[in-house]
Amino acid sequence: MDLTTYYMGLRLKNPLVVSASPLSHHIENYPRMEAAGIAAIVTSSIFQEYIEQENFFDPDQFSVLGADKLAESMVFSTEKSGYPLGPREYLEHIRLAKKSVEIPVIASLNGRTAESWVSYAKRVEEAGADAIELNIYFIPTDTGKTGGQIEEVYIDLVQGVRAAVKIPLAVKVGPYFSNMANMAKRFEQAGANALVLFNRFYQPDIDVATMTVVPNLMLSTAYDARLSLRWIAILHGKLKMSLAATSGIHHAQDVIKLLLAGADATMLCSVLLKEGIEHAAVILKGVYQWMQDNGYKSVDQIKGKLSQKSCGSPSVFERVNYMKMLKSFPG
Ligand SMILES: Cc1cc2nc3c(=O)[nH]c(=O)nc-3n(C[C@H](O)[C@H](O)[C@H](O)COP(=O)(O)O)c2cc1C
Repeated sequence: MDLTTYYMGLRLKNPLVVSASPLSHHIENYPRMEAAGIAAIVTSSIFQEYIEQENFFDPDQFSVLGADKLAESMVFSTEKSGYPLGPREYLEHIRLAKKSVEIPVIASLNGRTAESWVSYAKRVEEAGADAIELNIYFIPTDTGKTGGQIEEVYIDLVQGVRAAVKIPLAVKVGPYFSNMANMAKRFEQAGANALVLFNRFYQPDIDVATMTVVPNLMLSTAYDARLSLRWIAILHGKLKMSLAATSGIHHAQDVIKLLLAGADATMLCSVLLKEGIEHAAVILKGVYQWMQDNGYKSVDQIKGKLSQKSCGSPSVFERVNYMKMLKSFPG
């Protein structure tokens, strides 16, 4: 059975990748993930704000801004908690991660504007990362900005990182664009080698007892995979870049569905946080079993089999499906 898949030019022994998460924050987890059958690991993200913070140590800025106290407190807070990592620790993390496993290690950069911090990507490349995933988590709230202006920010960011490095570049975004298909094409034109669909946007809650806004991170359920499933089915065959799915991949059948839709890689996070890293082996075994039971010999044979590639008009298909779906509700 050949489970090999190619993801943005990287040869993966199977489609299971650990997505950016606390699991990939701890070096001791890397060999465990590899032993459980994981084919590549995305590190937890380093944030633009933390990279820029390093600039506070520029002696010129140091005295002018009086930033010593601020820098000290921010650096202290990252180093003490260990999460997220500061820029220097992050580079060391990549080096150690690369030493600890043979599978590809993908660094994750989180940025919101194309500025000087982008050159940090070069340092990540030098530290040995096999690829970079640019995680764009950005909620525009300026009522004066148009969708087109916001889209330009995304494209500038991708172009900026692309210009800084030679290694493959993936872009991880949320689904909230007027035309996701067009944005996908533009990411490719801007130099992305893969698209990761989709970032989950976390909604904080309000605690009425304390009258405060509280973070409320809920892990996904398998239902959350539907959005990636649909968009991967729509995009497969329309782009040269690879497609990876993230969100709601909990069972072997979720992986199979996403491969059938056209995914090149399927990313795991919530399920491993809930069930433990070793659960990846259970999922992998399930994929293998399904392929064997259904007479498939390679991942390539099933990839994109149920995508919308052969469908003349995906928009009409989507609309008919919508009507069918509403009609299918009993009663
Ligand atoms: C606790 C936690 C931390 C995460 N940290 C990151 C991160 O640093 N960078 C990133 O791109 N995604 C991050 N994610 C998102 C995951 O990589 C993943 O895309 C998302 O959880 C959806 O996948 P899932 O349904 O398998 O959990 C995080 C998710 C969780 C639950």
